[in-house]
Amino acid sequence: MPIAPRRTLFTLAATACLAAQAQQPPLKVGLMLPFTGTYAALGDNIEKGFRLFVNEQGGKLGGREVQYFKVDDESEPAKATDNVNKLIKRDQVDVLVGSVHSGVALAMARAAKESNTLMIVPNAGADAITGAQCAPNIFRSSFSNWQPGYATGVVAAQKGHRRAMTITWNYAAGNETVKGFTEAFEKGGGKVIKDLSLPFPNVEFQALLTEIAAQKPDVVFAFFAGGGAVKFVKDYDAAGLKKTVPLMGSGFITDGTLEAQGASAQGLVTTLHYADNIETPRNTAFRNKFAVTFRTNPDVYAVQGYDAAQLLGVGLAAVKGDLARREPLYAAMNKALVDSPRGRFTLSPQRNPVQDFYIREVKGHYNVMTGIAVKALADPGRGCRH
Ligand code: PHB
Repeated sequence: MPIAPRRTLFTLAATACLAAQAQQPPLKVGLMLPFTGTYAALGDNIEKGFRLFVNEQGGKLGGREVQYFKVDDESEPAKATDNVNKLIKRDQVDVLVGSVHSGVALAMARAAKESNTLMIVPNAGADAITGAQCAPNIFRSSFSNWQPGYATGVVAAQKGHRRAMTITWNYAAGNETVKGFTEAFEKGGGKVIKDLSLPFPNVEFQALLTEIAAQKPDVVFAFFAGGGAVKFVKDYDAAGLKKTVPLMGSGFITDGTLEAQGASAQGLVTTLHYADNIETPRNTAFRNKFAVTFRTNPDVYAVQGYDAAQLLGVGLAAVKGDLARREPLYAAMNKALVDSPRGRFTLSPQRNPVQDFYIREVKGHYNVMTGIAVKALADPGRGCRH
């Protein structure tokens, strides 16, 4: 066989390489989110945020076309294992993105760990996911429940409040957020005099509001989100409490909910890792693009979905789309500096965002930043050994 000249060999090699890249199958992304129920709007905005970033990359991450598989988890932990197995076993997805509800996400994380499927949590705060149940293949682009609770506790104590009551849904997110609040509030000299709760996703708040009125604490700390948060904030106002006992909360009680809450939300002070009016070119560009694309405003959930895609993009770029190369994939994700609309963040050794928590006040249709509650707050990652 005649020997090809060097130029031809090079061209042949380059063509073969391009062909191999072109032949990479689509990247299968499994979105397991609530698309019905009290958290439906949250799931919807996470998906929009995720798709926005992928679209900005021409529909590809790490050179691979992104293909979506979707399951509505209904925020129903009892169905979560069956639901996640639809994505892992039936659809054979490459990566799991989900979910919103902590109980659902804990079941997903167990299945992801067992099957060694890459998983990115775009909301659910369950502390154990980046704590006792942590795993090298499980990352979070959102927060741990402890974080916003702790940040709000710092601010409530700084405001001089001394006697607090808490109110939430009785499940991991509510209980862990209240724990974070209590830790910081009591460190700051306050005392939580009573914890109130009701089962998720109930919204019969009346008896609990009557109890708050009777106890007259200095401040109430609440964790609710989505449809439940809309009703809670309106009921708190209608009971006459808004004028007598300041209501504070992690910012989920007023994020993505303001149009429905109307006047009842005006003036509420919360803390969160996002605020609508962060005046950086990054946030402005993100908000404009989101609004133009989807004809609606983004919120914290949209940001977390967008950043889940960004984090995945960093990992895939490092291995040129080859998910089998786990070591360099994880290494790149672990040391990512994510250029988020919320502000840049890194990941803790347990793979949870280390991020600033803002003080926000509701003004009109916006959660407006008025200060910083805690800078670069890292979840303690208790119990994580991987
Ligand atoms: C959760 O279940 O972890 C959760 C749900 C909704 C939120 C925040 C946390 O807004």
